[in-house]
Amino acid sequence: MTILAIENIGKQFGSLKALDGIDINVEKNTFHGLIGPNGSGKSTLLKALAGDHFADQGTITFDGIDITHQPPEYRASIGLNFKFQITAIFPELSVYDNILLSVQSTASIWELIRSRSRASLNDKILETLEQFQLLDKAESLAGELSHGQQQWLEISMSVIRKPKLLLLDEPTGGMSPEERRATGELLLPIRKETTLVIVEHDLEWIKDICDNLTVLDQGKVLDSGTVDKIEKSNKVKEVYTTRV
Ligand SMILES: Nc1ncnc2c1ncn2[C@@H]1O[C@H](COP(=O)(O)OP(=O)(O)OP(=O)(O)O)[C@@H](O)[C@H]1O
Ligand SMILES: [Mg+2]
Repeated sequence: MTILAIENIGKQFGSLKALDGIDINVEKNTFHGLIGPNGSGKSTLLKALAGDHFADQGTITFDGIDITHQPPEYRASIGLNFKFQITAIFPELSVYDNILLSVQSTASIWELIRSRSRASLNDKILETLEQFQLLDKAESLAGELSHGQQQWLEISMSVIRKPKLLLLDEPTGGMSPEERRATGELLLPIRKETTLVIVEHDLEWIKDICDNLTVLDQGKVLDSGTVDKIEKSNKVKEVYTTRV
């Protein structure tokens, strides 16, 4: 079942066609990787999906709803969450409070009063911290975490909201090889509830965690399909040997 249908999406910056008629179908509860050389349009596409900017051509349908021109807050309210390259945590607050704020900022006041007693909220936060190997850091200031742990905290701030779709732009950027490997493992369990669209430069890493890959080149889809298919694609090989 398709959860995200991207149809003929275009985005122009001046005379540059950063996205030039992109079509992608993302299946529910899969991990879908976006790869391609520098400047191929990966982040521009992710931003159009998140509502950080709007596509100037085409349609984006999420969970049956046309979101092409909807603001990010609306997209988040129907289960589409995103994390960009820049880390967005509150460094002066504890790790625990960062997650608490994240839950409280999305729950309606009625939800908070009705079902989220402090105890059940606390359980949920501790469970999420454990899932992302941050339990022993709960009381530390978020700004004191390692770069990798800060990325995990930010991802966990999205995951605790149980989004239907999570968009990640290079979550392992700047991580040590060990943190990078751990990130793959930490993400795998979210598949039960969440579909993932993820941009990454490290092909070996993304191949291991994704079901499907789409390769962008100069604002167009070069190829799309299972990891197996893309690994064997001559078109993709050519772009990666000539341009990366
Ligand atoms: N706000 C903007 N204004 C003008 N040009 C932009 C803007 N954002 C992106 N571009 C251009 O659009 C093209 C696609 O950029 P984008 O950031 O989407 O590439 P990318 O595939 O994410 O690259 P990287 O792998 O380096 O992150 C590039 O040529 C870039 O310079
Ligand atoms: Mg980018």
